[in-house]
Amino acid sequence: MATFQTLPGFREFYPEDFSRRNHLFRLWRQTANTFGFAEYDAPVLEPLDLYKAKSGDEIEAQLFSFTDKGGREVALRPEMTPTVCRLVGARASALKRPIKWFSIAEFYRYERMQKGRGRCFFQFNADIFGEPGPEAETELIALLVQCLAAFGLTEQDFFVRLSDRNLWFYYLEALGLDEARIRGVLVAVDRFEKYGDDAFKGYTEQFGPLDEGVKAKVLAFLRIKSLAALEQTLGAIGGEKLAARLADWKKLLGNLAAMGLARFIEVDLGVVRGLAYYTGFVFEAFDRKGELRALAGGGRYDDLVQKLGGPALPAVGFAIGDMTFALLLEQRGLMPTLVQAPDVYCVIGGEAERLTAFGDIHALRAAGYRVDYPLKEVAFGKQFKTASESGAKLALVYGGDELAKGVVKLRDLGARTEQEIPRAQVVATVRDFFSA
Ligand code: HAM
Repeated sequence: MATFQTLPGFREFYPEDFSRRNHLFRLWRQTANTFGFAEYDAPVLEPLDLYKAKSGDEIEAQLFSFTDKGGREVALRPEMTPTVCRLVGARASALKRPIKWFSIAEFYRYERMQKGRGRCFFQFNADIFGEPGPEAETELIALLVQCLAAFGLTEQDFFVRLSDRNLWFYYLEALGLDEARIRGVLVAVDRFEKYGDDAFKGYTEQFGPLDEGVKAKVLAFLRIKSLAALEQTLGAIGGEKLAARLADWKKLLGNLAAMGLARFIEVDLGVVRGLAYYTGFVFEAFDRKGELRALAGGGRYDDLVQKLGGPALPAVGFAIGDMTFALLLEQRGLMPTLVQAPDVYCVIGGEAERLTAFGDIHALRAAGYRVDYPLKEVAFGKQFKTASESGAKLALVYGGDELAKGVVKLRDLGARTEQEIPRAQVVATVRDFFSA
């Protein structure tokens, strides 16, 4: 017999995996709610054009795309950002500002598989539309930090690297590069950490070798790790635009410090992000030990809503991926063992008692309790064993003798105590037990 396996890079979620996944989603959702973000979702399959030339060459090369039966070029979504731009763009005039939205959804990229990278993965996305100033970045970076800290991770476990594509543009312009060359250099900067000098290959192929003096300045700029060093390097360029930008930096860092989050944030101009649509501040979250790939990434993308046919609308956002994040939680011993135990296990004598028990079982479930029982007749002793192994707090015993007296036995499996209760009192007694 042929055995079918999942496609490479695709995942199955057995119940124990699913409960871990739910744990992530539950805390992310809860955290987004405390920040006042509203949840949305959208289609998994989108027109291919939504991603072409908007997300950048790297994502475009990784698309799962095909022609559907109606002859449409379509792709499985590799990210949420173009989609959420369409949603917000279509109703921009009706939506109350600032628009603060989040989603938890699955994405697909045909990537080379490695630790923490698959071909399907979940992301928690959060975005703010309609706010041009660093107040939006403040909200989002604070949310990003809290989405990780909510699980018990601290500044010893992760940090956020903060950079700025605007400043990169100003700087490279001042070095005499035109827009196409600037974009080429930024692609190289994005790859530099991973590939070293080879990162400039693409640039060289397109524009010829980068002038050695300019390259040295680029390499020095990407090593900048503080606002003071940044101000010093840019001091020579001057100008109003630059002064306003540095004021934004101070505001953002000041806001985050006031929230008590300075310990999580590091200025690091080495981050420029691979996605083509980012325009201003960009940021990425990493584990402190540097063992894992990025936990999260995001930034400002003020032009994308308009590029996709909507009105001019400033936007910032980020996404956390579930795979590296789950690895980090496991490494730090912060992934809880999640047991799905019933509240009540019913031990049932025979077929006659079973019919009586069914009434109570259904009433308890309708009252919100998780109740289990053996589907087929099983010896009493075995049922008690199953009850205690199930992790249930209570067992209800429906024996012939008890039912003849109009009672059932209620056994507290933790305290190992037992009492008889009138059948009519079953739901009320269980409720009293769990509310105590
Ligand atoms: P991204 O950096 O491509 O950004 O992805 C964000 C996170 O998703 C990554 O840091 C990583 O944790 C996870 N991720 C990405 N690709 C994979 C993969 N193949 N396997 C496992 N995890 C992966 C974006 O997607 C932007 N759209 C984020 C954003 C939202 N920007 C503004 N708003």
